[in-house]
Amino acid sequence: QPISILPVPFDWGASRRGASDGPQAMLSAGLERKLQLLGHRFEVRSDSYLSDFTADRRSSPRMKHWGAVLTMAEAVAKEVALLTASRAFPLIIGGDHSISIGTIAGLTQERKKLGVIWIDAHADTNTPESSPSGNMHGMSLAVSLGLGDTRFTGIDHPSPKLQAQRIALVGTRQLDEGEKGLIRSRGIACYTMHDIDKLGMARVMEEAIAIVSKDSDGVHVSFDIDSVDPGEAPGTGTPVRGGLNFREAHLAMEMLYEAKAVTSADIVEVNPLLDNGHQTVRLAVDLVGSLLGARIL
Ligand code: ARG
Ligand code: MN
Ligand code: MN
Ligand code: MN
Repeated sequence: QPISILPVPFDWGASRRGASDGPQAMLSAGLERKLQLLGHRFEVRSDSYLSDFTADRRSSPRMKHWGAVLTMAEAVAKEVALLTASRAFPLIIGGDHSISIGTIAGLTQERKKLGVIWIDAHADTNTPESSPSGNMHGMSLAVSLGLGDTRFTGIDHPSPKLQAQRIALVGTRQLDEGEKGLIRSRGIACYTMHDIDKLGMARVMEEAIAIVSKDSDGVHVSFDIDSVDPGEAPGTGTPVRGGLNFREAHLAMEMLYEAKAVTSADIVEVNPLLDNGHQTVRLAVDLVGSLLGARIL
């Protein structure tokens, strides 16, 4: 199956600039070469599908730059739906995590029972009311669950795009109060760093994969690079101590490949402006490699 790489150079959902350089940085760091070596057929899509979102200055304190985020997400949704319809494997490279509003809206045009593994230090389950920051990259999963502003939840097709029982959060270690309540009340599977420490990454991924695959018509991996410990991945806008180590992150990706269940992925929050040399960008490229079949032996 051919892979379609879709760049989303967008960072208006975050508080710090720079994640918009993530796609170009990953391509320059050899993402294409990596896929070639793994024997994949692939194409890199142009980013011209992204109409000029900078012209849309609509913003409010509870939804910062919402006009730009909405313009971007609608364009991403359209493009991702097209790729899904063409039977390609969509690999979306961001960009801050608000781009997943578009990714998931696009994927679920066809896949109504999509399972999602959300590997992230955060849950991104804030609503405009619960968000302490107003940054929309902290709301993408909530939007996909049908919560928040209807202009967002209604992108492409009616809401909700996802069902709570087909979502698994992995690597969680920083939650706002409203997010904790939502995760509990909806019964969303949440494998925190505490769980990973106790159970080990292998067991956690086995359980998470089982949850998102159950009665689903596809599995999407949303990988926020801030899930990895800042010592290993400093190039990201909202780093949180105590994250996944190098091997835990790779093991997660390798197990996802072995499970043969993954139908799409996005990798987000890679910020070259905050990086230590190219450490984080290179790690992101290698992790995508592990997800797509790279093996030690
Ligand atoms: N929970 C915080 C907020 O809503 C941080 C979110 C960080 N999200 C991310 N995709 N890095 O502002
Ligand atoms: Mn995130
Ligand atoms: Mn995060
Ligand atoms: Mn650099």
